[in-house]
Amino acid sequence: MYLPLIFLVFIYCLAQPSHQQMTECKGDFCSNEVPQRPHCSKSPPCFRMIPEQIPGRRYTHVVFRFATIDPRTFKVSAGNDAGDGIQRVSGVKFSQAVIKVWVAFGGWEFNDEGPTRTTFSSLAASAENTTTFLDSLVSMMNRYRFDGVDIDWEFPTANDRGGRPEDYKNQVEFMSRLRSRMKDVKKGVSVVIPATDRYLKGFDLKSLEPHVDWFNLMNFDLHGSWDILDKSTGPWVKSHTNMTEIQTALDQLWRSDISPTKVTMGMSFYGRSFTLTDPSCHYLGCRISSGGNPGECSKTVGVLHHEEIERIMRQNHLEPTLHPEHAVKTVSWGNQWVSFDDADTWRLKRDIARSQCIGSFAVRALNHENDKESNIEALSLALDHKQMEAPNFSTTGQQGNVWRKPAPQQCRWSSCFEG
Ligand SMILES: *[C@@H]1O[C@H](CO)[C@@H](O)[C@H](O)[C@H]1NC(C)=O
Ligand SMILES: *[C@@H]1O[C@H](CO)[C@@H](O)[C@H](O)[C@H]1NC(C)=O
Ligand SMILES: *[C@@H]1O[C@H](CO)[C@@H](O)[C@H](O)[C@H]1NC(C)=O
Repeated sequence: MYLPLIFLVFIYCLAQPSHQQMTECKGDFCSNEVPQRPHCSKSPPCFRMIPEQIPGRRYTHVVFRFATIDPRTFKVSAGNDAGDGIQRVSGVKFSQAVIKVWVAFGGWEFNDEGPTRTTFSSLAASAENTTTFLDSLVSMMNRYRFDGVDIDWEFPTANDRGGRPEDYKNQVEFMSRLRSRMKDVKKGVSVVIPATDRYLKGFDLKSLEPHVDWFNLMNFDLHGSWDILDKSTGPWVKSHTNMTEIQTALDQLWRSDISPTKVTMGMSFYGRSFTLTDPSCHYLGCRISSGGNPGECSKTVGVLHHEEIERIMRQNHLEPTLHPEHAVKTVSWGNQWVSFDDADTWRLKRDIARSQCIGSFAVRALNHENDKESNIEALSLALDHKQMEAPNFSTTGQQGNVWRKPAPQQCRWSSCFEG
C-alpha cells in the first residue's frame, strides 16, 4: 500500500486566483527566462530560486505546477510556459534521492474564462476522454519520472468557475479511474481542496477519499482583491489565511469522516496585500480599492514575499499585529495593508493541526524563498523538523539510512474527533 510519507509538499508556482494578473508564475521557474541571480545593484536583490537550488533534506515531495491538458484532445503536455522547467524539476531527484516529484494540473486560471474553463468538467463527464487523458498522462509521467499527480480543479460544480452540477458525481468516477491507473504504475494521487465552504461543497469528500493519497487543503488565498467583485465577500480588508475560516473547512472534513492522515495543512510563504480606500481606516473590515502595490521582487499586484514585508516593516519601523485566534499577522503602512504567516503563526497552526491529528504540511510556494532559505528554516523550526538525514552510502548492498518519517504523534483515534 502506498503510504503518505510527507511532511512538506512543495507547490511549485504560486497559483494566482486573480483575474487581473494571469502571468504571475511565468516569470519564475516555469519559463525559459534566465533566472535572475542576486546582484549588487541599488535595488534590492531579488532572489529567484531555480530547481537546482531546492534546499536539500527539507522537502519530501515537490509538486510541479502546472502541466496542462489540451481542451480539445484531452491529452496532457508540459504547457507553453513550462520551458525546460518540467525537465529540471524532475531532475531534482538526481541530486536529492529521497524527494518525490509530482506533477499538478489545473489551478485557478485553468478554470478562468477561456478555452480550458470546462476542460475538467468535460473530461470527467466522458469515459472515452478520460481514457485519452490517462494514456497521455502515464506516458508523460514515465518520460519525466514523476511519482504522482495532483489534481487542482477549481472548482467542481461552482457555476462562477465554469462548473456543472454533474461534476459532483463525475469527479468521483474520474478520480477512481485515475487512482486505479496510477496504482497500476505505482504512482500517487492527490487532490487540492479549498478551505472556503462554498467551493468545498462541490467535492464529494467521502467518496473521493479512497481514491487519493491525500487532500491538499488550500489554507491561503481565502481573501484577496478578487473579493471586490464578489457579492458574497465584498471590498473589505480580510486576511488571506485565517485559522477560524480554515477550521470551518476542517470541520467539514471531519464531519465527512475523512482521516486526518489524508490531509495536508497548507502553509504560505507569501502575504496578500490590499490598497485601502482611506489610509486612516486600516483595520480588518475597512474598505479596499484594489490589490496592494506590487513588491519589488514579487512584481505582482496583491502579493508580497516575506522578505519584502520584512523590509517594509524595517524601513517604516512597523510592528505587525498578531491575531492569535486566527493564526495570522497583519500590518499596514500608508494606504497599504498585508496579511501573512511567520514562525509565530506557523507554530499556532501546527498546534491546531496536530491537535486534530494532521501530521503533514504543504508549502506554497518554495520559490517564494530568499537566498538564506529563511522561510523553510523558520517553518522547519516551527514544525520541529530536523533536516532529514542524508543518505548514507557507505554500507554495501543496502540503501543507506534514508530518511524516514517518524511514526506520527500518537493520537488516539477514539478521542480525536469527539465533540
Ligand atoms: C470527448 O472529446 C471529444 C473530442 O475529443 C468531444 O467531441 C466530446 O464531446 C468529448 N466528450 C464529452 C462527453 O465531453
Ligand atoms: C478571521 O475570520 C473570522 C471569521 O470570518 C473573522 O471574524 C476575523 O475577523 C478574521 N480575522 C482576521 C485576522 O482576518
Ligand atoms: C554510515 O554507515 C556506516 C556503516 O553502517 C557507519 O559506520 C557510519 O557511521 C554511517 N555514517 C553516518 C554519518 O551516519
